[in-house]
Amino acid sequence: MADLEGNASAKTFHPDVPAVAFTHNIRGAGNLDWGMQNRLARIFDPQTGRTVMLAFDHGYFQGPTSGLERIDLNIAPLAEHADALMGTRGALRSSIPPATRAGLVLRASGGPSILKELSDEYTAMAMDDAVRINADAVAVQVFVGGEHESRSIRNLTTLVDKGYGVGLPVLGVTAVGKELTRDARYLGLATRIIAELGAQIVKTYYCDDGFEDVVAGCPVPVIMAGGRKLPELEALTMASNAVRAGAAGVDMGRNIFQSPSPAAMIRAVRAVVHQDLDPADAYELYREATDAKALA
Ligand code: R5P
Repeated sequence: MADLEGNASAKTFHPDVPAVAFTHNIRGAGNLDWGMQNRLARIFDPQTGRTVMLAFDHGYFQGPTSGLERIDLNIAPLAEHADALMGTRGALRSSIPPATRAGLVLRASGGPSILKELSDEYTAMAMDDAVRINADAVAVQVFVGGEHESRSIRNLTTLVDKGYGVGLPVLGVTAVGKELTRDARYLGLATRIIAELGAQIVKTYYCDDGFEDVVAGCPVPVIMAGGRKLPELEALTMASNAVRAGAAGVDMGRNIFQSPSPAAMIRAVRAVVHQDLDPADAYELYREATDAKALA
């Protein structure tokens, strides 16, 4: 208990100063509860309102992906460069240091492996466990137009309800199957459905035509998914185009951890996302860091 002696008697209430209205720049989040906003602010940099998320959840359906053979060696050293990590609870518990300062987004849907029909997913973890891990969000795949569309929507809405119970946001991911196109019409449909059904963040692929309309039509932050491995300059250009079209950042996996120099690549991605650096200049940063490492 504080010592009752020696308190200064003067009090300053500033009666003429209106209460400070704290706001942040995370789209659609202004009416969420404090805890949910706090968790979102651990994913999105409060200065830029954007995020560089590092995805390494591929093993949940495709096993030991190239570049992820040893998450403790491949990913843990990159965590300091990421605003948030996106992985499975198994990978986090076994291979990521609990002292990491990065935000945590936990993969929460799963089921089929690459040997089966991928859209046949269920909710794959309990919200209690996300809280126990101290996650900042959970991620669920949504197969709009897919064979198991309604079930994947139910996976999403169940997690959203449970997330509100504990103040934990949900990241809805637009899944694109073989039969679904990645054009603005489809992505606009899928992102809007996911947001309207309650996801506080949506992740989707970039499309060359009309991506700004996809983002504008989605009332919550849209994060660009990385997709297949591209040459570094192309990946940086895609990330730059996405944030300049309004995306609130990127969630990239293979384009970072399959790069010959993953640390240099994630730093270059950061420059594009947080500083709006031109992709050609960010690529120079990547090359300089890669060359310096080769000479060391
Ligand atoms: C996709 O929704 C899954 O989360 C993927 O495992 C992951 O995000 C893919 O990352 P990338 O396509 O950038 O390698």
